[in-house]
Amino acid sequence: MIILSIETSCDETAVSIVEAFGDFPEAKYKLLGNSLWSQIDIHREYGGVFPALAKREHAATIVPMLGKALNEASLEKDYSPTLFPEQEVELHKILEREPTLADQLITFHKEHGIPPIDVIAVTAGPGLEPALWVGVNFAKALAYLWNIKMIPVNHMEGHVLASIFDIEEDNKLTPIPFPAIALLISGGHTELILMKDWSQYERVGQTRDDAVGEAFDKVARLIGLPYPGGPEISKLAALGRQLGLPPFKDDLPRPMINSDDLDFSFSGLKTSVRYAVADKVNAGGREGALGYKVNAGGREGALGQRELTDDDKKALARDFEDAVRDVLIKKTKDAVDQYNAKTIIIGGGVSANKFLMQEFKRHFLITHPDITVYTPNPGLSTDNSIMIALAGHARLDKAANAAAATYIRADGNRSLTEE
Ligand code: KG4
Ligand code: ZN
Repeated sequence: MIILSIETSCDETAVSIVEAFGDFPEAKYKLLGNSLWSQIDIHREYGGVFPALAKREHAATIVPMLGKALNEASLEKDYSPTLFPEQEVELHKILEREPTLADQLITFHKEHGIPPIDVIAVTAGPGLEPALWVGVNFAKALAYLWNIKMIPVNHMEGHVLASIFDIEEDNKLTPIPFPAIALLISGGHTELILMKDWSQYERVGQTRDDAVGEAFDKVARLIGLPYPGGPEISKLAALGRQLGLPPFKDDLPRPMINSDDLDFSFSGLKTSVRYAVADKVNAGGREGALGYKVNAGGREGALGQRELTDDDKKALARDFEDAVRDVLIKKTKDAVDQYNAKTIIIGGGVSANKFLMQEFKRHFLITHPDITVYTPNPGLSTDNSIMIALAGHARLDKAANAAAATYIRADGNRSLTEE
C-alpha cells in the first residue's frame, strides 16, 4: 500500500510517500519520497508564526512539495487522463479558498497524470486552523482527482508514532509493552497521555497555561534570541553547563511539581525568568554602571541599567532548562507510577532537545530500569509528514472517498482522546 501524506499544521509544508508492507502495527515501511519546506525564515522576522502568512505559504508551496516527493519516489504515472471541464469546476469548488492552488494543481495534473498512490493521509488537527485547511482541502482535491480515499490524521498521534519509529534500522514501529505513558511536548502542547493499547489515548494531564515549547520561545525572545527559541536556548544552556557558570538565578520555581494531579503550568516560570532578568539589569544600575541600554525584558533602557552579558544568557538558559527538566521528569514519573506504565514515549518538537532527552533516559534508568524511554530519531522530532503517513496507516478504517470526505474538517483543537 502506498500512502501519500500531507502536513501543514504549523510552519512546515511537508509531503511524503511511504509504502507499507503488512498491517499496522507490524508493518514494515519504506520511505519512497519526502519533501519538507520550512517557513521559519519567513516567520522569524515577526517573532512567531502568523496563521494567515502560514496559510499563504502552504498554498504557494504544496504543489512543488508534492512534485518533489513524487519525483524522489520516481513514481511512474499510470496514465494521463484528460481533465473534463466539469472536473476543473469541481476542483475550483473544493479549493475555493485557495484559488491559485486549484490552477497550480490542474497544470500539475496535466503534466504528471495520476501516480499509483493508494490513499492520502492528511493532518486535520490540532494546529493553526487556516494552515490546516490548506492541507485538508488539497487532500480532498487530490482524492477527487485521483479517485482514491483520504484519511484525516491527528498530528499528535503522528508525534507519538514518530517516537517509536525506527527509521534507521528496520523501518518498523518498535513493539512496545502497554500501558504506555506518552509525554507530548511541542509549541502548542504539553500533555501526558495514557495509552492502553495502539490507537487508544486518554489524556491524564496537561498544561493549564503555556506549552513547554511556548515557554522556550518566550524566554528566548526575552533575551533577544530569534524564533523558534527552543534550539537557541538549548545551545546556550549547553554552553552554560560546559563552562560551569554560577547560577543566574538558583531558585527559579518548578511550578506544580508537587501538585497531586498530572497537570503542568509554565507561565509562572516564564514570569520568574522575566523578573530575574529585570533584577539583574537594574542591579547593574545600582552598582553604579553608567547607563547601558537594556536589550532584554522588553523595556526601554533607563539610565543605570545594564545589558545581560553572554554569560548571563548562558547561565539563565541553563537554569531555565533545569527547571523545565525537573517538572517534566517528576510529572512523567508520577503518571508512570499511577498507571503502572511499562513504556515511556516522548514526542513533539521539544523532544529535539538532547539535554532533556538524555536526562529523562538517565533518570528512568535509575528509578525504573525496566522501562524504556523512547524519543524520536532527530529527523522526526519536529513537524514532518513521515509521521503523518504512520498515523494514517494506523487509521485506515477512517478512510473516506472524495464524495464522502466532505465531513472531514480542519480542527485546530482536535483532541487525541477523541480519536
Ligand atoms: O512539534 P513542533 O515542531 O510544532 C508544533 O506542533 O508545535 O514543535 C515546535 C516547538 C517550538 O516551540 C520549538 O521552540 C520547540 O518545539 N523546540 C525545542 C527544540 N527544538 C524545537 N524546544 C527545546 N529544545 C529544542 N532543541
Ligand atoms: Zn508538532
